[in-house]
Amino acid sequence: MISATSFVGLAAVLAQFVAGTIPSFPGAPTFPDDLQCLFEKPVLSCENTTTIKDTCCSPTPGGLVLQTQFWDTYTGLEDQGQLLPDNSTWGIHGLWPDFCDGSFTQYCDISRQYDPHPSPNVSNGINIPSYTGPTVDTFIKAFGRYDLLEYMNTFWINQGDTNAHFWAHEFSKHATCFSTFDTKCYEPYIEHEDVINFFDTVIAAYKTFPTGKFLASAGIVPSNSTTYSLAAMQNAVKAHTGAIPYFGCTGPEAPNKDGRTIVDEVWHFNHVIGSPQQLNFKHIDSVTTSSCSPTGPIRYLERTPSSVRRK
Ligand SMILES: *[C@@H]1O[C@H](CO)[C@@H](O)[C@H](O)[C@H]1NC(C)=O
Ligand SMILES: *[C@@H]1O[C@H](CO)[C@@H](O)[C@H](O)[C@H]1NC(C)=O
Ligand SMILES: *[C@@H]1O[C@H](CO)[C@@H](O)[C@H](O)[C@H]1NC(C)=O
Ligand SMILES: *[C@@H]1O[C@H](CO)[C@@H](O)[C@H](O)[C@H]1NC(C)=O
Repeated sequence: MISATSFVGLAAVLAQFVAGTIPSFPGAPTFPDDLQCLFEKPVLSCENTTTIKDTCCSPTPGGLVLQTQFWDTYTGLEDQGQLLPDNSTWGIHGLWPDFCDGSFTQYCDISRQYDPHPSPNVSNGINIPSYTGPTVDTFIKAFGRYDLLEYMNTFWINQGDTNAHFWAHEFSKHATCFSTFDTKCYEPYIEHEDVINFFDTVIAAYKTFPTGKFLASAGIVPSNSTTYSLAAMQNAVKAHTGAIPYFGCTGPEAPNKDGRTIVDEVWHFNHVIGSPQQLNFKHIDSVTTSSCSPTGPIRYLERTPSSVRRK
């Protein structure tokens, strides 16, 4: 018998077909075979995991899902046309499957190691080999997903190295530890469709957390002359998501020596119903203590104009 919740799951699967995620690569779906999840009871990751049987249907372990972003003011590869999107949009870092307490593992599947410079180069006692094959942007092109590539080259920008290196790093370090992106979840599996599905999922999740807009709505905008408090920044985001994110800071220590003073990253924490691919996120407060000073003035720096894409 199909339960009411199964019908909800079926609707979600059908919606993916209707939404036109069908790729142009002949016969290749770039999303998992979610039909296998229809008879799984939808549960919140990290909250009630007793009924999870199929790890393709819920991230297990790794049920604490972090959508992470960077605030960079330059890229270092401006002369190659690698530019930041505009003066106020935070860039994508990734989507991470942390354990429920905020600890994590990395590089979980060496057969999907596409990172040219793995960092760290040892994980779980295993040496992580450097990758020397075709860069991951060639995977995206092979699926005909030029739309995806263009979005990634606009909003998923590396600092000090090429974008494709950063994307490969995020996939191999983090996505291979997400049970819902395991190759066995795609039947029949077409090589690299998990990579495409992960990149699509990161972008869809990122779009739900417009950090720059959240901050701007509280009057917090990039400024080389003003400073802000960590609490004001946290509350500006909480007003939209209902949860306190993690803000990361670099730069000099605050006068009280209780943290740094130049904000450069944000992590939005979630539990998830079903797979993260379905984006049913429950926003939760950060489980990680901010590296920004809770007492000192925080600088949210303006980008270098020549590092920003012209409209
Ligand atoms: C977890 O889910 C199971 C099955 O739906 C239910 O029987 C149990 O009461 C739940 N436990 C908690 C703590 O909610
Ligand atoms: C960004 O701000 C600078 C001034 O700091 C301005 O010159 C430039 O036109 C702005 N760029 C965009 C794309 O808005
Ligand atoms: C692994 O990383 C360490 C620390 O960064 C470095 O010293 C070492 O040379 C690296 N090993 C290899 C094989 O790259
Ligand atoms: C703001 O300050 C940072 C750090 O000094 C600098 O890199 C950036 O170019 C400045 N931006 C503007 C628009 O002056």
